[in-house]
Amino acid sequence: MQLDIGSRQIRSYRDGDAESLARNANSRNVSRNMRDSFPYPYRRSDARAWIDFATAQSPRTNFAIADGSEVIGGIGLVLQSDVNRRSAEIGYWLGEPHWGQGIATAALQAMTDWAFAEFDLVRIYAEVFEWNPASGRVLEKAGYELEARLRKSITKEGQTVDALLYVMIRD
Ligand SMILES: CC(C)(COP(=O)(O)OP(=O)(O)OC[C@H]1O[C@@H](n2cnc3c(N)ncnc32)[C@H](O)[C@@H]1OP(=O)(O)O)[C@@H](O)C(=O)NCCC(=O)NCCS
Repeated sequence: MQLDIGSRQIRSYRDGDAESLARNANSRNVSRNMRDSFPYPYRRSDARAWIDFATAQSPRTNFAIADGSEVIGGIGLVLQSDVNRRSAEIGYWLGEPHWGQGIATAALQAMTDWAFAEFDLVRIYAEVFEWNPASGRVLEKAGYELEARLRKSITKEGQTVDALLYVMIRD
């Protein structure tokens, strides 16, 4: 899979990606907005394990945001199951040097379109921690709507806070 987003790409992870993946992911300002499975510090071994996981998935739902040979971020879906099977959660991050250039918004738009075309989905959603207005803005710019405030649903780094649930529906 490869999607072009301006001069960057969303593409499958490759064996040679571990160095740039670890370098861009190794940020507390990234990890504090992600699930606990996204470590800090983020070591080369974490990057290798993630690349192994993502490339072994079937179907693949986790991809690199790349600028040529450099992985500058990641974007992925978690397909839901059972009665939630037409829903998917979407998540994304970018290395700090790449913030503020519209890259996450472009990646989210492209990935959302790809996901609706690729899978039998009607609902894609994201949960944003209440201290992360930049991500809420990215979702709004990509056409997602704020659906709910999930009060006290997130416990992260010793704080229990609300999540903002953003959703895109396509029947
Ligand atoms: C959230 C993140 C992906 C945004 O990436 P990005 O490429 O910088 O996003 P964009 O440039 O497309 O858009 C950012 C928007 O947020 C706005 N913004 C940035 N900081 C903000 C703040 N503190 N409060 C409000 N808006 C803010 C920007 O002004 C911009 O909006 P604009 O175009 O209307 O000016 C990036 O900061 C990141 O990786 N953060 C850590 C991981 C993360 O939060 N992942 C999402 C988990 S839900």
